[in-house]
Amino acid sequence: MAFALLNGQIINRSEAKVDIEDRGYQFGDGVYEVIRVYNGKMFTVNEHLQRFVKSADSIGITLPYTTKEIAEMLEELLKKNNLKLGNIYMQITRGTAPRNHLFPPANVPPTLVAYTIKADRPVEKLEKGVKTILTEDIRWLRCDIKSLNLLGNLLAKQKATEAGCYEAIQHRGQDVTEGSSSNIYIVKNGVVITHESDHLILKGITKDVILGLCGKNNIPVEERTFSVDELRDADEVFLSSTTSEVMPVIEINGTKVASGAPGSVTRKLQTFFEQEIERQCRILE
Ligand code: PDD
Repeated sequence: MAFALLNGQIINRSEAKVDIEDRGYQFGDGVYEVIRVYNGKMFTVNEHLQRFVKSADSIGITLPYTTKEIAEMLEELLKKNNLKLGNIYMQITRGTAPRNHLFPPANVPPTLVAYTIKADRPVEKLEKGVKTILTEDIRWLRCDIKSLNLLGNLLAKQKATEAGCYEAIQHRGQDVTEGSSSNIYIVKNGVVITHESDHLILKGITKDVILGLCGKNNIPVEERTFSVDELRDADEVFLSSTTSEVMPVIEINGTKVASGAPGSVTRKLQTFFEQEIERQCRILE
């Protein structure tokens, strides 16, 4: 039997229901996190929980629990579901109230939900790399908030999938921002270049791990905006996310990236990233 966390209680997943007037359902009025689980252990859990609090804070939702309490509840959920390899999905909304654009009164409690999903590592894609398309970034200007409102991201991902690709690389005019559900990097002359963590992208937890690994291993990094031309002219391109790890990009809009094979800096970062998983979660399955 599968279990879910609903407002502090672990219950049968099939009984975990929210109201049709939940503001997450009606307005996308909430924020979320996806946490990777390796060997039954949460990877970078503190970083995810801190970002969860920050996202909630920035839209005026106060978490009814401390991050320590949430971590404990998630641990219990993992144990109950006996999840070894997969993801935790967690979201908080502004709660249930009669539909109105205005925030409900402060005494309306938020709705917190979490559940687990079994998921293997995308081993074959990590080995071979993935294809991408370019698409204009039509999202709002607070992409740093991990909001439930993902319409722009969904439209971009759907377009990529319909083109037979794994991801859509978004750009605002000439400036590359991020993927529909990932951060984007280019490598040029040995330097890793990725968009600065401002309001136009999500500050990826995987991105932070990768930049930390670059620092430790003397791989130069520039966190700055880069152009579509620089992307097309890159020696290597890769993307990152909780579920995609360090994923080589081998094609953009039908054109190969350099020789069309994953690059050497990308390969090194994949190795360092796996070592980091082993360090934090002990065994890589
Ligand atoms: N997406 N940018 C966007 C728009 C994202 O949705 C994500 C993650 C990232 C990478 O963030 P992180 O490294 O913290 O996973 C960047 C998650 C996995 C999702 O929505 O499923």
